[in-house]
This record gives sequence, structure tokens and C-alpha cells, in this order.
Amino acid sequence: MVDQDSIPSRKWASGVTGSHRNRHSVLAIDDNSPDVVADIYNQAGDDYVSYADGDPSQPFAFDGMHAYADRRVWAVLETKLADLRASGASSVRLLDGGCGPGTWLRRLVIRAHALGFSSIAARGFDIAQTQIQRARLAAGNLSSLPGVNVTFDVADLTDRLSEPDSSVDITICLYSALSHLPVDKLTDISREIARVTSGYFITTVRPIGSTPTAFVESLENVRRLKHDHVKDRCEIDLSDGRHVAFGFHLFTADELRNHFARNFDIEDLRGLDLFHGRFMPDARWNPLSQAGDSQIADELERLERAYATSTEFMDRATHLLLVARSRQAVARELLDKA
Ligand SMILES: C[S@@+](CC[C@H](N)C(=O)[O-])C[C@H]1O[C@@H](n2cnc3c(N)ncnc32)[C@H](O)[C@@H]1O
Repeated sequence: MVDQDSIPSRKWASGVTGSHRNRHSVLAIDDNSPDVVADIYNQAGDDYVSYADGDPSQPFAFDGMHAYADRRVWAVLETKLADLRASGASSVRLLDGGCGPGTWLRRLVIRAHALGFSSIAARGFDIAQTQIQRARLAAGNLSSLPGVNVTFDVADLTDRLSEPDSSVDITICLYSALSHLPVDKLTDISREIARVTSGYFITTVRPIGSTPTAFVESLENVRRLKHDHVKDRCEIDLSDGRHVAFGFHLFTADELRNHFARNFDIEDLRGLDLFHGRFMPDARWNPLSQAGDSQIADELERLERAYATSTEFMDRATHLLLVARSRQAVARELLDKA
């Protein structure tokens, strides 16, 4: 069953401050509060899902803007799910913090069902109400599958999670949901995610040397973009006249590791998309399918793997991927081996 609306608690004051121009031209001014971020993602147009995730009706096509990174992230998630099933588990519980339109949770639920889990409980949450409405709509038919319970609600990653201790097999927080949070809260957030996660926590964020993004719009709709690394604040003027300003933190790989190593065992930390974004042909500009393209695709895969964990390159990837294992899972494994 897909749950009903819930009203998010707001611990911080409303983020829209300063002089208001009309709502269309000013989405948010000068504030890092979650209301500002929620506003921006609430007002993202209907195209946002395909912009972020590719064709929503083909969740496994992985041909969106971040195709290479998506494929790598999916390979990790699918492996964790399959390993859990192979270990004899017949029920699985999944949690997606900052789920946006819910595509990743939907992918996990579809695959968990195909793998034969007979009980699948999945919850996605986000501060942006509109994203949650989209997620509920897209996942509507999943909950009619036997044993499947998918819920989406409006909630804040900086609040206590509603899940009991050690109840979630896989927790995800993908594509920079964490980057919108105040850095000084990340230790508490990491501890809270660790409290509920009995298996794996998997996240991606933007590294410090990544290329620019406009979050809810493609870069060609940007007139001006400026990131203030001291204030962790991004400001964007869009070509339709909108001005967007909100908190966003770019991570170093070491920093990301340190935030989560306190509460998890870090299984993997790597840069994703160092080469594909630059070298794959762009259909808007390059001629279609030149001879040798498949050879280049193979070579790009090889290069990505070769440099993904190199300290000099990781911080310049498009995304950082962190795979963290719950300490309880590690302890269980040691006991089993003893
Ligand atoms: C770039 S989107 C990624 C969405 C989704 N994880 C995906 O990969 O498609 C970042 C999401 O984080 C959400 N977000 C930002 N701050 C949040 C917070 N404090 N609590 C919950 N969600 C938050 C935004 O509303 C937005 O939907």
C-alpha cells in the first residue's frame, strides 16, 4: 500500500528570506534551510524525472544523464540484493533517504521481487512533497504485488528515522541528497543511519573537483553559476529568469570516508565517471555512431576502473560512491566464521 501525506517537521526557520521578487523569478534567497531545498525540488518541472533518471517507464535502461554512474551504482545495489537472497533471506527491508522521484527504490523493489523475496518492505522519503507525489504515482502498481509494501513520505534526513534499530537491510542516499545537508550534522546523520541499518549503506555525492551541475535543470539552461565553498552555497541564474540559491557541499573522498567510518566499515569508496562524461559522443553535436565507438566504450570502462580509486583522480570524478557495511553485519560474519 502507498501511504498518505504526512507533514514534515521543520526544525529550522523557513528559508525564503530577503526581498521577494515574484515567486517565478525568485525560488529562494540566501539560506541553507531544508525549506529552500524543498522549494527547488518541489518546483522542478515534470521533466525532472527523465532529466535525473532517464525514461521512468524503463527503469533499467540506464541511458540518462549519468548513465555510466547509474550502471555502476546499480551493479552494487543488485549485487547486495542478490547476495542477501543467496544467503537464504526471504524478506528484505529497504530505505531511501532523499529519494526524489523514487526511481532507485522502485528499481530495488522490482529486482527484489524478481529474486524471489516473499516479503519486501520499502520506504522512501524526501523533504520535497512534489517529489514524493511523483514517487507514489510511479510506484503505485508495485504495492499490489504479493508481499510488497512500498511507502513514500515527506521527511527530513536530519530528523530521527522512524525505523527500529538494525531493521533495514539496504539504506541508500543517492545523487547528492547528503550534499544538501549542513556538514556539521553529518556525524549525527551517519550515526542515525547506522542505528537502523543492519546491512549496507550506499551513497553517492558530488566531489570537490566535479564538473558543474544545475541540479534540477540541464546546464544549457544556466546563465550564471557560482559555488561558494566557504559558505557551501550554490547560486544559479537560469535562462528563464529564475534565480536559485541553496546550500550544497562538495566532498573530498577522505572527508566522506571520515564521516561514515565512525559508524560503519567502509567496504568501497571510488570516483564514478571520470571519463565517460567527457568522451562519450553527444548526439546533439557528434555524428552518429562512428567506427571504433565500441572499442572506445570498452577502453573508457577500463580507464574508469583503473583510476576510480586513485587519490589524485577520485576527487575529480563526477560522483563519489561510498559502500559502507554495518558493524553488526561485520560482527555477525566474524561470529559465523568462528
Ligand atoms: C539530486 S536529488 C536526488 C534524488 C534521488 N536520490 C535520486 O537519486 O534520483 C536530491 C534529493 O535530496 C532531497 N533532499 C535534500 N535535502 C534533504 C533533506 N534534508 N531530507 C530529505 N531529503 C532531502 C531533495 O529534495 C532531492 O529530492
